[in-house]
Amino acid sequence: MHPPFKYTHTTNHTKPTTQNQPHKTNHTKMSSTPENFNHKPVNFEENTIITVFGASGDLSKKKTFPALFGLFREGYLHPSVKIVGFARSDLSTQDLRERVKPNLKKGKHGNHEETNQNNEAKNKIEQDFNKKVDDFLNLIEYCSGPYDKDEGYEKLAKIYADFEKTRNGGKECNRLHYLALPPSVFGTVGERIKKNIYIKNEHAQTRVIVEKPFGHDLESSRALQKELAPLFDEDEIYRIDHYLGKEMVKNLSVLRFGNSLLNAGWNNQHISNIQLTFKEPFGTEGRGGYFDQIGIIRDVMQNHLLQVLTLLTMERPVSFDPESIRDEKVKVLKAFAPINKKDIITGQYGKSEDGSKPSYLEDETVPKDSKCVTFAALAFNIRNERWDGVPMIMKAGKALNEGKVEIRIQYKKVASGVFNDIPNNELVIRIQPDEAIYLKCNMKTPGLSTSTQMTDLDLTYARRYQDFWIPEAYESLIRDALMGDHSNFVRDDELDYSWKLFTPLLKYLESDEAPTPEIYPYGSRGPQAMDQYLMDHKYEFNSSEKYQWPVTRPENN
Ligand code: BG6
Repeated sequence: MHPPFKYTHTTNHTKPTTQNQPHKTNHTKMSSTPENFNHKPVNFEENTIITVFGASGDLSKKKTFPALFGLFREGYLHPSVKIVGFARSDLSTQDLRERVKPNLKKGKHGNHEETNQNNEAKNKIEQDFNKKVDDFLNLIEYCSGPYDKDEGYEKLAKIYADFEKTRNGGKECNRLHYLALPPSVFGTVGERIKKNIYIKNEHAQTRVIVEKPFGHDLESSRALQKELAPLFDEDEIYRIDHYLGKEMVKNLSVLRFGNSLLNAGWNNQHISNIQLTFKEPFGTEGRGGYFDQIGIIRDVMQNHLLQVLTLLTMERPVSFDPESIRDEKVKVLKAFAPINKKDIITGQYGKSEDGSKPSYLEDETVPKDSKCVTFAALAFNIRNERWDGVPMIMKAGKALNEGKVEIRIQYKKVASGVFNDIPNNELVIRIQPDEAIYLKCNMKTPGLSTSTQMTDLDLTYARRYQDFWIPEAYESLIRDALMGDHSNFVRDDELDYSWKLFTPLLKYLESDEAPTPEIYPYGSRGPQAMDQYLMDHKYEFNSSEKYQWPVTRPENN
C-alpha cells in the first residue's frame, strides 16, 4: 500500500512562509500572481501534471525520474499526479518506462541487504518495492515531438486535457515543466510552452525548472535570461543548482543561525581561514569533449561551491521567506572582492603514477594541446565587517586521491599565555560522502598526564540519525518546486553576480596569457604547490600523531 500521503509534512524551519517584497532586477518582470502578494505559494499536489522535457536523455534517466520516484516512494508525490516524458526520440510509453526502471532505487528503509531481517520480511520489502515501481511507472506517459515546432506541444495539450477531464472535472491542472535540456534550447522550448501549454488562472499555475549551465559567462547568461524573462515570471522559474538540495548544505543556515555558540564566533575576530574542498576520484572519462569547453571552474566552482560559500558567509536573513534568504546571498556576493588572477593554482591531471589511469590529454575527444583546467584553487576575500582579512580558499579537482566535499573552518590560535602553542580549532562540515560535522578541539589527555591532545566533538550522521530518510538533492529540490519554495533555487540577480565575479578570471584563463596548468598525477592529492598555497593563506597544518579517529586508545598516547 502507498504510505499515507504526507502533504502536510513540513518542518517549522523549512516551511515556505509568506513571500514579502518582490526583489527588483534588470532582467525580469515580476509576477502579478497572488504568489507575490503575501500569500502562501500554491502546493502542487493533486491535480498536477509534471512534464519532463528531454525525457530520453541521461539527466532524466539518472536524476529526474529517479528523484520523482524517490518522492513517490516516500509519500511526497501525490499518487494521482500525471508524469509526461517529452523528447524528440521515437519511443513508446513502454520504452520510456523500461528506460526509467533500472535507475529506480529502494530508499534506506527498504535496503534489506543492510539489515538482519528474516526472509519473510525481506520478501515483503521486495514485493512492496516492486509494487511501488509498477505504480510509479503507470503514472508515466511518453509524448514525442520536435522541440522547435508546435506539433508535439499540441499533442501534450491534448494529453493534459484528457487527464484534466478525468481528474479535475475539466479544469486545468497545475503544470510543472522540468527542462532536462541543454540551455541552447531553453528559449525555443520556453516559447512553445508559453504558446501551447502555459496556464495561469485561479485553478492552476505553471512552474518551470531549468538546469545548469546557465550560460558560459556573464554575457551568455544574460542572453539566456533575456530569452526566458519575457516568457515566465521570475517566481515561475526554478533554477536548479543541485548542491542547494544536499542535506548538509541545507543545514548550514540552521547550524549558523540556530546556534548562538557557533554564531558568536562566526567572524574575522575568531576565524582565521576557510577552505571549501571538492574532490572527485575519477577523471572526465567519457565526457572529455564536453568538459574541455567547460573546465572545473565553470563545472562546479562558479555554481555549486559559490552557492555553498554564500550560505556560509551571508548575514542572518530577516525571515524564512525565500526572498529574504536570497536577498542576503546577493548582498554578500556584492561584497566579494574581484578574484586575484595572480593568486590562483591551476592543474591538469596526467597519467597515474602506476600508469594504469590515463592523463586528461589521452582522452581522444580532447585537443592534444588543451590547457583545460581540471584542478583549481582560488582565494576569495569578502570586503565587509564580518569577513575582512579571512582568506577563503575554494579548491576543486577531478582525478584526485579521494572523493569528498567538505568545508573546513580554521579558528585563530589561542591569543597568548598558556596553551598558545597548541593546535587551532577546526570546524569541519562534511557535505559528502557520509554527512558529518566535527569540531576539532584540544583536551587534556585522560589520566595523570598533564599533556593536551587534539580530539573532536563528532556528529556523524549515520551514527546519530539512524533510519532517517535523507533525500537526494534532486528529490529535495523537486519537492521544493512542487511546494513553491524558492529558497533553494538560484535567483536571476544572484546568477548575474556570480558570473560577474568569475567571468574576468575565465576570460584570462582562456587567453594567451593563461598560465600552463601544473600536471598532477591521476589519483594524487593534486598540484604540489597546494600545501604552500594553503599556508600562504593562513592555513596551519597540525599534524598531531596523537590524533586518532574515531576512537583514541591509551597505548598510542
Ligand atoms: C555536476 C558536474 O554539476 O556536479 C559534474 O557537472 C560533477 O562534473 C557533479 O561530477 C558533482 O555532483 P555530486 O552531487 O556528485 O557531488
